[in-house]
Amino acid sequence: MHMIVTGGAGFLGQQCIARLLKNDLLVLAPEAGKAIRSISAFDVAEGALQHPKLHYVVGDIADPHQLRALFCDDTVAIIHLAAVVSGTAEADFDLGMRVNLDGTRHLLETARAQGRLIRLLYASSIAVFGGDLPAMVRDETTPTPQGSYGIQKYIGEQLVQDYTRRGFIDGRSVRIPTVVVRPGKPNGAASGFASNIIREPLAGRPALLPVDPATAMWVASPRAVVTMLMHALSLAPSAWGWHRAINLPGLTVTMQEALAALKAVAGESALALVEHRADPAVLRLVNTWAARFDTARALAMGFAPDEHFEAIVRAYVEDHPEALVDH
Ligand SMILES: NC(=O)c1ccc[n+]([C@@H]2O[C@H](COP(=O)([O-])OP(=O)(O)OC[C@H]3O[C@@H](n4cnc5c(N)ncnc54)[C@H](O)[C@@H]3O)[C@@H](O)[C@H]2O)c1
Repeated sequence: MHMIVTGGAGFLGQQCIARLLKNDLLVLAPEAGKAIRSISAFDVAEGALQHPKLHYVVGDIADPHQLRALFCDDTVAIIHLAAVVSGTAEADFDLGMRVNLDGTRHLLETARAQGRLIRLLYASSIAVFGGDLPAMVRDETTPTPQGSYGIQKYIGEQLVQDYTRRGFIDGRSVRIPTVVVRPGKPNGAASGFASNIIREPLAGRPALLPVDPATAMWVASPRAVVTMLMHALSLAPSAWGWHRAINLPGLTVTMQEALAALKAVAGESALALVEHRADPAVLRLVNTWAARFDTARALAMGFAPDEHFEAIVRAYVEDHPEALVDH
């Protein structure tokens, strides 16, 4: 069987594809797992990962013509990750609307036009929650996004819900916590500092903390998120029922706690590389995001969070020995 990963050259895209290729089996319950014939990774550029079953298709998700050519007779599933992330969508309204909203709509329409029920996993975000929130965000808390990115993600979820209700696709949306530690270069996400303050000092480079150290965030590791994305895609439609959007489990961590974990793993010298300097633009966005969730529904559906933040840092060290210096 064939599947499509949009944003397949991106951070989570590459990790999902690596996991799929490692398992070489796509489980779309209630059916038994089937061998993967081919994966099309759709993105504006090719990714680093290479495999005989992996094909990069370079294009723009906002162009419906390019999307049509992506589908095969045996395309059974799509992981839709292509997006411009929070900082970029906030800085460039038109780009965010075009990629995050128009691109999602075109993808849904193209999947619908195949005339069979394709399973589609949509990467939403906890940025759908913002503003005047309860102390604990629960499954039934109404999203109130405060930025263009969160609005675009919420509309995307609603489209996935309605296309599913109408029987056009078998859709499911997951609201992903902030993923830390993100390897490589910083991207346009306003939340990027949460990774920078761990990754950069581990590599012997300075990092800026642009928010108050008491600022709490809802986070999950790449490993945990990829496992949860695979689970979300695999679950039978009956496990989802009517509501097709879910808050994924994560950890609440203050930046102070994150830095304590950095110190526990890499010592005082790594910690000394982090400088606190407030950035009002980042503060404005991050302070509207939710940091405490009760994810009872997801836990009951078998999604699982990381153990604790130090384990996230240690997993990063294990996965990226090349990105470390001795402290
Ligand atoms: N990483 C996180 O912390 C996080 C948290 C919540 C939600 N998400 C969501 O998960 C998804 C993946 O995130 P990521 O961290 O891998 O981000 P990423 O920026 O690494 O990946 C997104 C990919 O989308 C591609 N893309 C952008 N515009 C495109 C276009 N016009 N056509 C085709 N592809 C295009 C980019 O080139 C990039 O490779 C995104 O939808 C993001 O909003 C991520």
